[in-house]
This record gives sequence, C-alpha cells and structure tokens, in this order.
Amino acid sequence: MHSITALVASLILPIASSCCSKQDKIEKRVDELLSQMTLEEKIGIIHAQSKFSSRGVPRLGIPDLWTDDGPHGVRPETLWDAWSSALQSNDSCTVYPSLTCLAATWDRDLAELYGSSVGAEARYRKKAVLLGPGVNIMRTPLCGRNFEYMGEDPYLSGEIAAPYVRGVQSNGVAACVKHYCLNNQEFKRHNVNVNVDDRTLYEIYLPAFEKAVKEGGAWSIMGSYNLYNEQHCCHNEITINKILKGEWGFDGALISDWGGVHNTDEAIHNGVDLEFGTGTNGVDINTKNNYDKYYLALPYYNKIKSGEVGEDELNEKCRRVLRLMLRTSMDGKYYFGSMNSPEHSADARKIADGGIVLLKNEGGVLPICSESTGKIVVLGENAIKPMAVGGSSSSLKARYEISFLDGIKAAFPNAEVVYERAYQGEPTIEGYNYSHYDITDPRTPEQLLSDAIEAVKDADHVIFIGGLNKAVKMDCEGADRLQYGLPYGQDEIIDTLATLRKDLIFINVSGSPVAMPWIGKVPAVLQAWYLGSETGNAMADVLTGSVNPSGKLPFTFPVRYEDCPIKTEAQYPGIAPENPKGIWEEVYSEGVFVGYRWYEANEIKPLFAFGHGLSYTSFEYGKISLSSKKMHKSITVSVPVTNTGKTAGAEVVQLYVSDRESSVVRPVKELKGFGKVYLEPGEKKVVKMTITPRDLSFFDSASHSWVAEKGEFEILVGAASDDIRCREVIYL
Ligand code: BGC
Repeated sequence: MHSITALVASLILPIASSCCSKQDKIEKRVDELLSQMTLEEKIGIIHAQSKFSSRGVPRLGIPDLWTDDGPHGVRPETLWDAWSSALQSNDSCTVYPSLTCLAATWDRDLAELYGSSVGAEARYRKKAVLLGPGVNIMRTPLCGRNFEYMGEDPYLSGEIAAPYVRGVQSNGVAACVKHYCLNNQEFKRHNVNVNVDDRTLYEIYLPAFEKAVKEGGAWSIMGSYNLYNEQHCCHNEITINKILKGEWGFDGALISDWGGVHNTDEAIHNGVDLEFGTGTNGVDINTKNNYDKYYLALPYYNKIKSGEVGEDELNEKCRRVLRLMLRTSMDGKYYFGSMNSPEHSADARKIADGGIVLLKNEGGVLPICSESTGKIVVLGENAIKPMAVGGSSSSLKARYEISFLDGIKAAFPNAEVVYERAYQGEPTIEGYNYSHYDITDPRTPEQLLSDAIEAVKDADHVIFIGGLNKAVKMDCEGADRLQYGLPYGQDEIIDTLATLRKDLIFINVSGSPVAMPWIGKVPAVLQAWYLGSETGNAMADVLTGSVNPSGKLPFTFPVRYEDCPIKTEAQYPGIAPENPKGIWEEVYSEGVFVGYRWYEANEIKPLFAFGHGLSYTSFEYGKISLSSKKMHKSITVSVPVTNTGKTAGAEVVQLYVSDRESSVVRPVKELKGFGKVYLEPGEKKVVKMTITPRDLSFFDSASHSWVAEKGEFEILVGAASDDIRCREVIYL
C-alpha cells in the first residue's frame, strides 16, 4: 500500500509541477527566500557592496549579484572599491560595434544576434546583469553619449532594443535598459531638471523603454541621473512608480545609475530597488564599511528600526531583486557562456558590415577592386587609433582590434598601401590603466599635412579616415561635444586634399552627426561609427564590395548646428541655478519635433536625412498593396522591391505614417514600420509591414491616452525619410 502511494505520488508530482509556470515557481521561491531573511540580510541585497556587486545571503544559497557594463562588450574587471582596472589577464573581450551602428543596420535579427552574443560573454564572466542597452533619444547632436544610444527615432530605437534585450536574456543574463529616462545630455547630468510635456514624454522619450519592457521583457532598468518634475529619475514617483511599474507592469528591478540616488525617503517610496554608487571608497582605514552609508543601507535600516517606516517597501524591493537573481544567476541552468570565440568575432563583423552607411558615392569611386595593384594612400589618425578603449563606462579591453589600416592592407594584398597621418588629434589615451597607448607623431601640423599632400599626388586611391574619437568632449560619457564641426582642423585638411584629389574617399568615425562643409568636393563618404574588434575587416568588406553597404542613418545630419531644434539656452544646456540646490532647469520646448520631425516641419534640408544610406546596387519599389483600406485592428502593408542592379544587396524599406488632418500639430510623418530584405540581382521580394491604431495615434495629455482621430492617413514607403517611393491612403 505504502509503495503504491509512493508510486502514485511520483507520477502525480511531476505533472503537478509542470502545471506550475516558470514564473509561478520563481514567485514561490521568492516568497520562500524572503520569509527566511533577516532585516539585515534584506538591506544587504538592495545596495552595493563593491563597484559592481551587491551582497548575497550565503546561508540561504543566494549568491552576490554581479553587474557589469555594457553595452558594447563586457567591461574588464575593476578593483573592488575603485574604478581602475583589476589588471586581470582573463577579461579582455569581443568588442561589438557601438549601438548607433546596430541601429543603423535596421535589422531586428542582427539586434538579437548582438544581444545573444554579448550576453554569452557576460554569462561566461559570471555577470547576472549587463548594463545596457542605452535607448535615450538623440535630442542634440552634441550629447556625449549619442554613440551608446540608437538614434533620434523612438520607433527604431524600440524595435532594435527589444530583440537586443531578448538576445542578452537568452543567456540567463539580465539586460539593464538605460538611462530611464530623459537623459539626453551629459552636461550637468546629475543636476538638470527636465521640463517636458506629457505628449512629448510619451511620444518621443518613453516608447523605446516601453518596448524594451513589454516586447523585450527586460528584467532590469537603470534609472537616470537627471531630474524630472524636480525628482531625480532614480527615485521618481511619476516615471518609475506610475509609468514603469504601474502603466507598463514592469516586474523587474529598477537599478540606480551609479551615484544616482540622493535621498533615502524618496528612494524608499519611489521605486528604486537596488542602489549602486560611484563615489564610495570602502577601503579607507578606520572607516566602517562606507557602503553602509548608502541611502538604502544604514539610513534605511535605522528608519525601519526606529519605526519611522515599515517593511512593506523593503519587501517589495527584495522581491524584485530576488526575482532578478532567480531569472539569472540563480536560474539553475548550466549555461556556461563563451568568450572571444570565432563565432563572436564573426557576429561582430556581421553587425559592423550591416551598419556601415554609404552616405555618398559619386562617379563610381567605390567600391575598389580587391585585386587592385595600384597605390592606396590611407590618411587620418583614426586609421590607426584604437577605439575600443575610451568613452568612459563603455570603454573596453579588446582581445584584439583590427585597425582600419590593417584591414585595408589585408584586403588589398597586391596594392601598395601607404599611410600618412595628415593630422594629430588625441594620440594617447588612459584607459582605466588597462590600456595605454601612445601614437604621438613628432612632426608639426604643417609637416603632417605636406607629407600627406606629397603622398596623395601619385596615388590611385585616397582614403581619409577621420571624424571624432572617444576622448572626453568627443563621443564620451561625462561631457558633451563643444562643437558640431570636426575637431583638430580636419575640415581645412580635407578641403585641401579634396582640391588635389577629385576622388577622395572620406570615412567618418563618430556616433553623432558632424558638419561636412566640404561635402561638395568629396565624391564618396562612409559613416563608420565605432565598429569594434573587427573594424578594419568590416570596413574593407565594404570598400572592396565583398559586402554591399546596407546601413541607413538612425539620425539626421543637419548641415549646421544652427539648423537643429535647439534654439535657446533654456532648451540646452539649461538655465543655471538660482536655487540653493544647484538644479539647472531645462525646457524641451521643441516638443515632439526632434530629429527629422523638426527638419521636415521646418522645411530645413539636411546634409543627410534620417534613414538615408546608399548601396552599390539599385532597388525599385512597386505599388503598395493593403490588407484593408480601413483600420480596424491592424493593416498589413505589402511592397514589392526588386534589385535592379548587378550586385546582390540588402534594402531597408521604411514605412512612415502621416496624419492628413489632426486636432493637434503633428510631425509631417513618423516612422512606424520597416523591413530589411536581401536581394540577388534581378530578384524581387515582397516586404510586409503591419501597422495598428497606436501607429496612427498621438498621446493626448488631457485624457492621458493614445488617441487616433477618425479620418485619412497617408502611408509613405521609401528608401529614406527624404526618398519616398510610393504612397497610399488609409482610413480610420
Ligand atoms: C553610467 C552608466 C554605467 C555606470 C556603471 C554610470 O556613470 O552612467 O551608464 O552603467 O556608470 O559604470
């Protein structure tokens, strides 16, 4: 009898447990663990114990929680209490292209590949949380962190962020989507209070986060440094409690940016679940553990002990942190991850190949035949400058990094490749003491230029590789750029060289738009972003045409800085404080008119439009067909595209929606769909994109809801925001 009961039980139990969803099991385990934790242990898991970790509870089998930057690779180990490198020899990584490059691929599959590849490196390094992706909207071309984000459009950013998140998390590593929210500049980033209307907040600055949560299923979000509604965004009643956790139902952990918490009471009540810091030095002699001084450490503990606050908020924070752990380091799965594998190099190269944008190509200057036997002159500091290191928190220790110059040399084995520097910008860099290099050239600027001039005279091809770099006040965290133009006198140099050489190729390395006053003289321009470990190989793929460029700009290049929406000090950099708290006030008075929404509404012709990117082949768009002319739940828009050239290649088909008549002022058109399609010469495929009523809507502040007004909407499909090939009208 006994044994029969046991047999029955053994048959029933697995069935019973398989009835219980993974999420239910996690919640059950969270409750079990929480019920056994002491107050000290609970406080211990919600704040940092080192630069990148928070404490576990060993007696309950809860490990320490390890995080790391993000987003372009896994940051090398730092010291326990300091930012400098731990000087380990096993923490160099694959460096993936910057997120602007990923956005420029307009390829959801590549975004998922990126996430799963970098996530595997994080898992290998035993990180539970990877601090990325960054999805703040590019509001000004000068923001120092544009290169870590995904451009100026909320739809594109969200569509790329969600698969990145899913990819990372497929490794049992949480993505931490940052910086939530309104962190659109580095200048005074801790002290700027953003004044933005609800419509702009919901239409421009929130959708990428919303998609990362709702469609990407993000397990953690990082609060930002700035303030909104006079509260820091790491403990903000509206953005965290009301919107993120309330309206979107986010059940993960809200992690503070490092040093982003400022106040224990607000931190208790306004949703931050885990506090990390920048300034604490826990190693000073005679000092009790400084981490105890964190806002969510002793100050919180004392408030509970004294009865000033109860434990409800603490339990909720712990629940979220435990849930994060059970989804990652405590998931009980044997994912080992992997590091620096040939597959990861191939992934990095594929993403770089897909994101390089051919901005201009006149007179067939590109591609250059790989069998070329002539003289190729490569100019510019960026041809030889390592770029994995730099940029601050996203700085990486590359296992290897192929420079542009080395990539070009390898790709043209029969040619004579000659290098000339032409200018000297930032020849050294201190990379948290794990990477120091010095490419200082003793020549004067005049000599550098005259040597370059001499070299190009008898060249068959001339390629100038310049742009920005990742030094402070370039594409780098902590400060914004000071000028829209290229630094180090490059404009004059390019102008001079372009006068001598009508076939000059300019490769721009940057994560932000830059001015190109000489554009009329230069026939070929490529946008190279920061391409990571495989920089030189990927660029050579495009230069030789072994890869047909298919990237499209995720942001506009205005001709001049004055063309962009920022017109007043109140808009940027903000009004200096007259208040004792030192808070700067900034007003996003341009509203929803950010990026192409601004240029189009004001009929300002940009240097290169949002969505622009050329190919070595040509594509013909056929007529749009609609699943229905009338919008109910959704409409599928189908567009046939044919490769009419002689080269295989991929095209990004972009769908914009324009509201013909509206009770509010709306942008001329807004991106609401896209698809990337690869076509052999002569091949034709139909690209299908689906739009829903939300894609026709604006956010109505008064009713606090998305409103789609009845009437006609135009569907515009094309190869760029300024290259619409076909249109159709639909009705709601
Ligand atoms: C940055 C974050 C980063 C964190 C940890 C902060 O200064 O804003 O993006 O993840 O440092 O390095």
